Amino acid sequence: MTTESRHDEMLGLAARALEHFEHQTTDLAPDIMQQPIAAYIDKTRYQAEREGIFKQLPLALALSIELPKPGDYKAMTVLETPIILSRNQDGQVKCFLNACRHRGSRLCDDGCGAARVFSCPYHAWTYDRDGALIGRYGAETFGEVDPADFHLTELPCAERCGLIWVTLTPSQPMDIDAWLGEFAAELDTLALADWHLHEVRVLDGPGWKVTMDGYLEAYHHNLVHGATVGQHTVGNLLVLDTYGPPSTFNLWSQDLGRVKRASPIRLGARGTHKADSFLFSEFINLWDSGGSLLGESGPTRAGCQ
Ligand code: FES
Ligand SMILES: [Fe+2]
Repeated sequence: MTTESRHDEMLGLAARALEHFEHQTTDLAPDIMQQPIAAYIDKTRYQAEREGIFKQLPLALALSIELPKPGDYKAMTVLETPIILSRNQDGQVKCFLNACRHRGSRLCDDGCGAARVFSCPYHAWTYDRDGALIGRYGAETFGEVDPADFHLTELPCAERCGLIWVTLTPSQPMDIDAWLGEFAAELDTLALADWHLHEVRVLDGPGWKVTMDGYLEAYHHNLVHGATVGQHTVGNLLVLDTYGPPSTFNLWSQDLGRVKRASPIRLGARGTHKADSFLFSEFINLWDSGGSLLGESGPTRAGCQ
């Protein structure tokens, strides 16, 4: 997408927001939807969601900037699945189960670091940054073993838009470009590769849908966030776009009142970035608020300590 077309898109969003602002309206779903309480608390259903959604679809599990150099790794546990993200010598990120192929010991604790090799703390089998078995203590006592049969179990992994995406099921094919579609251009506007990771925090919540629901509306903004972000945003004004499964919603700064009086609409110097002065974009499991925050939400997440 060119800078010019991005600028036009931003102006289009601003025009939609202004229209809502003037009429005190917001983007709406086509109809009223009611959810049974079971959708939130039924344990069997939750298990099915974990298996059918979160273990099958690409998850954004790390920022590229968390593994900037060859040899950098991030170990984490997602949905009780221990994994290692490893940037190999060619700069490519691989993901494998954090489970030794000998007797399944974890190769390293959760956290970030740099490693030349991954050496198992149990009997010292050693793997390179691509997950290949390269050393076995006392190999001669094992008889004939083909190291290729004991490669770490690899998970589908790709790096796009400053994020590292993983599917937690080894046999599940992942076509990240098809999955992201036009949403990739939206994510690229965040220029995540240029960010600095300030802090990672894990917040316990009442369930992934409750968390997600809160990010699908600005209806609560004035009351819940009245002392913080609500002081700057227009409550209950939402501009929503979907790109297949991914979607973005845009919150609007109270500067809209000032923009409303200006003609024509002018965007700031970062006018092609969705964290512009009067626009806050939120992505369903990645959100950016004025360029200062980034988060993920899901049933379980782990972070680099
Ligand atoms: S479990 Fe890893 S070397 Fe034995
Ligand atoms: Fe909120």
